[in-house]
Amino acid sequence: MTEKLFDIKVSYASPKNPIAVASMAGITDSKFASGFKNAGLIVLGGYNLDKPTNDAARKEIERGRTEFFSDAPVEFLRSELEAAKDFTTIAVNVRAASLAPYIEAANLAKEFNVILEINAHCRQPEMVELGAGEALLRDIPRLCEYIREIKKTGVVLSVKIRANVVNDTDLAKAIEKAGADIIHIDAMHPDGADIGVIKRIRNATNLFIIGNNSVVDFEVAKEMFSHGADMVSAARAVRTQPGIINNLIFEVSSLQSMTGWYNAPKHICGGGDLRALAFCCLPVKACALHGALKQAGISAEEFMKIKTDFVKNTPIEYGEGTCFGSMAWCCKITKPCFLRDSALESIGLSDVEYMRIKKRLSEHIMKRRFNKG
Ligand SMILES: Cc1cc2nc3c(=O)[nH]c(=O)nc-3n(C[C@H](O)[C@H](O)[C@H](O)COP(=O)(O)O)c2cc1C
Ligand code: SF4
Ligand code: SF4
Repeated sequence: MTEKLFDIKVSYASPKNPIAVASMAGITDSKFASGFKNAGLIVLGGYNLDKPTNDAARKEIERGRTEFFSDAPVEFLRSELEAAKDFTTIAVNVRAASLAPYIEAANLAKEFNVILEINAHCRQPEMVELGAGEALLRDIPRLCEYIREIKKTGVVLSVKIRANVVNDTDLAKAIEKAGADIIHIDAMHPDGADIGVIKRIRNATNLFIIGNNSVVDFEVAKEMFSHGADMVSAARAVRTQPGIINNLIFEVSSLQSMTGWYNAPKHICGGGDLRALAFCCLPVKACALHGALKQAGISAEEFMKIKTDFVKNTPIEYGEGTCFGSMAWCCKITKPCFLRDSALESIGLSDVEYMRIKKRLSEHIMKRRFNKG
């Protein structure tokens, strides 16, 4: 039922739904992953790709942490990819002390059509001392050089980051410019998941975003989706609540069936990201729209033209009886409004079709925004 419901694509990777299992070193191997084949994505690992990181892993195990290690890391990675081959979309989270092992892993990942994920997240001192994990966040030029070189292999590349370590939007922009495809954001904050970081990165880049941290129920997942995440991932909860992945898939599939846009943004005035310009009114009143347009680098006149031109010859061009005479300016379907609903009914347009047009409109506005730089 969920197979064709979503249209998620990042180059050769096509996750069947937007729910992922995040990596946990020493835990999320192919055997563990075999219990989560329904997930849209399973991130295996983190695997250590060279002798220094494997030695560091052994030291960590001695002090009680869980880690994977191997004296033949490439062969180990190959055997894991072989074992997980038919599960679902797979990514491998990896650490290394230099570039060459990443390139070798990238070639292997490409061979298996899986995603490579650079671990720029780990803060264990043994790894950071080697320049791996979080050390990469503090050395953005080196991280970007790795990304550029790894991308030459043609692999789909994700970068796993921990939020609130450095300036997140600068970091995300650099990651995008260097050519990565995906940013996997551990939105860690002392007060719980920092949803604001997802929104800031959504507004600053066109990267595919996987939101992570404290996804323990659909409420948290929905907050991430409605602030710009394309997927969400869970790690610890997968162990403590065995049914969580299936529950999240069920909830997001219901939302997608009902609305056609599972990660539709909140309205701008409700704190949504810039994609929500698709739901904004004509710019005729003093409201949060003007700040959003300024941030997007679009004038009010351009905004009117972009929306009016886009909806021409689409079913939402007109909207007799609605606030502004065209559904180009109408709200999200989940905002109750009998005026819009009767306009939709009169032309026989379903809620899902309406939201699909709004989604395309949103993509069009964002394209204009990013093309302007
Ligand atoms: C035991 C354990 C091991 C982890 N190992 C890794 C790892 O190897 N690579 C990585 O990028 N993140 C790793 N993480 C971080 C998780 O993927 C995730 O980002 C973090 O736990 C927050 O998400 P959660 O609240 O869903 O657990 C690990 C987390 C735990 C609890
Ligand atoms: S234009 Fe309408 S939807 Fe947009 S911020 Fe203003 S009041 Fe909210
Ligand atoms: S008619 Fe309803 S949906 Fe359309 S802009 Fe007015 S309040 Fe929003």
